[in-house]
Parts: sequence; structure tokens; C-alpha cells
Amino acid sequence: MTTILLCDDNASLAEQYAYDLRRLGDYDVRTAASGAEALDALASDTVDCMVLDLEMPGTDGFGVLRAMRDRRIETPVIVYTGTGNFDRCVQAIKAGAYAFIDKAEPVERVVREIENAIERRRILEEVAVLRRYADDESALLGASPAMRALKDAIARVAPVPSPVLITGESGSGKELVARDVHRLSAGARESFVAVNCAALPEQLVESELFGHERGAFTGAATARKGAFESAGRGTLFLDEIGELPSPAQAKLLRVLEERALTRLGSSRPVPVPARVIAATNRDLEQEVRDGRFRRDLLFRINVHTLRVPPLRERLSDVPDLVGHLVARTCERFGMRRKRVSPDALEMLMAYEWRLNNVRELRNAIERMIIAADGDVIGPEHVPSEVRDDAAPQAPNAGGEHTFVRLKAEAERQIIVSALERHDWHITRTAHDLGLADHASLLKIMRRHRISRE
Ligand SMILES: Nc1ncnc2c1ncn2[C@@H]1O[C@H](COP(=O)(O)OP(=O)(O)OP(=O)(O)O)[C@@H](O)[C@H]1O
Ligand SMILES: [Mg+2]
Repeated sequence: MTTILLCDDNASLAEQYAYDLRRLGDYDVRTAASGAEALDALASDTVDCMVLDLEMPGTDGFGVLRAMRDRRIETPVIVYTGTGNFDRCVQAIKAGAYAFIDKAEPVERVVREIENAIERRRILEEVAVLRRYADDESALLGASPAMRALKDAIARVAPVPSPVLITGESGSGKELVARDVHRLSAGARESFVAVNCAALPEQLVESELFGHERGAFTGAATARKGAFESAGRGTLFLDEIGELPSPAQAKLLRVLEERALTRLGSSRPVPVPARVIAATNRDLEQEVRDGRFRRDLLFRINVHTLRVPPLRERLSDVPDLVGHLVARTCERFGMRRKRVSPDALEMLMAYEWRLNNVRELRNAIERMIIAADGDVIGPEHVPSEVRDDAAPQAPNAGGEHTFVRLKAEAERQIIVSALERHDWHITRTAHDLGLADHASLLKIMRRHRISRE
């Protein structure tokens, strides 16, 4: 429901307006009796649009607009005034208001302005997200349907402050996804602190994450901030969260629930506003069943899950990735840029990349660049394991081989999007796709190894 904040020092007038707006616009309308009260409400509630009186004792409408600008509160504002002073209204627009109206005008007009203001705000936000992507700051390459769906999901969850869980095979790009979520989040200008839970010795995990006071344990000569505190209002990236030892899991759960932590050796709680992103290549559901991961912690972190598709499910991204990786690697080696022949590319697109996904491709390319003397990287330079695996079944069947795979990729994506559209309801999805029954859909899902994560 759309929430409107109505700020007017004249209580009876505010009530009348609120009543009309509720009735006409079906809004959730809150009222504030002063500028200061309105600013408090803007800071703590989600307000879609504010209707603001200009003349008020204390902080007047202009004061509110100024404070909003200083605090970067971007809620659209419609000012209304009873004095009919046109100059002041123009001034208010210059100070950042979206529109102005006279108190004497019918409420329908206010509703129309509110709708316009909210729509404009929505479009601006959308443009900002797209621009940030188009800015080419994202290191995440790929335009396959699976990758486009992932980028879409990233843009949707990034602005929300809740935890995000990124799942995906080793080398599939989980860290790049985490960086993109951070880049598109409200705390984008703050720090991105990455902690690899697998790389920390068990005795040090808690102090690394939550910090410690001086003398908290032997060797703690000075007090130290943990990663949570270092991330501030930015992002804490907990890589390989499945490796977190069980006492640290319990403590992490408490911190996420209370949004505060106590350093080791201290009893003073410190607020932790950082957004948490966790990544894993393990099946955490299975880890829970095996008693290695806390179910309550999983429920805390998996509200928003981003699944990074393995490279073999998006082979149409291979040419782009190859082009980019070849260019970057040649540059790094201080070499003239080489190019990959169509047959060699064909082999790279027919391989499964099960071992290490994009990282495996990156390493293969590095070896190919070194192996090729001339400017062209041919099939003979393709690593033997890739070449053997990609060997066509019949002579000249290479192109067909890739075609079959790309077709499978497209088919898989069609099924997954349809399932997502129907919230994984099998019968409805089967119906939507025009399949005979749910059994036919299940058969296709099994063939493509599609399951809900
Ligand atoms: N979509 C992509 N576009 C460009 N480069 C990518 C992409 N995905 C992965 N890479 C590159 O592949 C390598 C592995 O990516 P990354 O470290 O993000 O994977 P990961 O899923 O975190 O792996 P691990 O599970 O081993 O930690 C990096 O060099 C990264 O830059
Ligand atoms: Mg990683």
C-alpha cells in the first residue's frame, strides 16, 4: 500500500485532508504536526510521498526541504499552501519539491500529483539502476538468458538491506556477484569487507568477525575491531559460509538477529548496520540435514538467494568471456592481442567446465595464449582435456554439437523462467507451457537436472 505523510501544523485541516486522501486514493496516510516530526517520520518509516505545508512555526516547509536535501532523503514532496503566494511556491520547487498546489483546490488534483510524483520517482530509480549497470562497472560478463535473469535478480535485491545468500559452483563468479550487489546497494560508497570463512583458523574466526578487547585471550595485546565493525554501513561478505565452525554460527545468528555484537572480552553491545552477503558452493540444506550447519542460521540468510548458474548452463556466454579474457591476459603479459579461431572456440563451447567454471576457462585461456606462437589460437593450442572431451562424435559434427547444447540451454531457461513465474507450481507451469500434464514437465526437469534451490 502507498504511504503518504501529511505534514501540517493545523491539526483539524490535516485530519480532513488525510480523510479525503484515504477515501480517494486508498492510501495509508500518516500525519505530522511539525517539520521536525515529519523529518523523524521520514527517517524511520518508508514514505512514498509527502504532502507538506509551507507555513509552519519552527521548522517550516523550506526547512524540511533543506534538511531532506542535506540528509539525501529522496521522498518526493508536494507542497501546499494557503496563502496563494506564487513566488514562494516557485521557491519551493527550486528547493526540491516536485509540485505545488493550493489548499483550495480539489483533493482529486492532489491525488493526481501524488501519483505522478511516485511514478516519476520509480522511473528515476529504474534509470539509476540501469545506468549503474550500463556504466560498465560490472565485471560480470554475459548476456545469456540465465545471466540476464541473474543480473535482474541482483538489481532487485541489492537495495534491500536484508542478508543475501549466493550459491553456485566453485569458480562460477560468486564473488563478482557479491561485489555487484554491494555496488548497487544503499551502502555502495561504504566499505566492502570480504572474509573467507574457510581460510581462518578455528580459534581466530570469532575474533576476526566480531573483534576483541585487549586481554580477551592470550595474545590479544590490543583491542581490535572485527570484520563486522570494519564494514560499517557497507557490506560484509562472508565467503564459504558453510565452513563456519558451529560456535561462530551461533554467534553470527545472534548478531544478525540483534543487529548488534559484543566483542570478545566485552559486554558492551555495539550496533552493526552492515549488510551481510554470504556465499557457498555447498548444498546448505544438506549441511543442515547432516548437522553441520544451523537451520535457524540458514533461514536467516537465505531469504534472498541468488543462484549463479554454472558455465555449462550458459555456453552462449563463452565467446564473450573468451574475448574478454584473451584481451585482458595478453595485456597483462604485455603481448600483442591474439585471436581465437572459430574451431578452437567451438571446442571451448562444447566443453562442460565442471571442475572450476569460469576460473577453469580463464586458466585454459592463459595456457592457450602461452602455447600459441602466432597471432591465432587454433584447436591445437586448446588444452588436451578440453579437446578430447569436445571431440565430435562424427566427422564435421562439431557445429551441430554446439547447436544441440545451445538449444538445451535455451530450453532449460524457458522451463526455469516459467517455473519461477508460477512460484514452482508444477501443474500450473505445465499448463502454461502447453504440456500434456505435470508428469511431462517433471520428465523435462529431470533431463535438465532442474530443481528448486
Ligand atoms: N560472469 C563473469 N564474467 C567475467 N569474469 C567472471 C565471471 N564469472 C567469473 N569470472 C571470473 O572467474 C574467476 C572466478 O570467479 P569468482 O572468484 O567470483 O568465483 P567464485 O564463485 O567466488 O569461486 P569459489 O567458489 O572458488 O570461491 C574470477 O577471476 C572472475 O573474475
Ligand atoms: Mg569465491
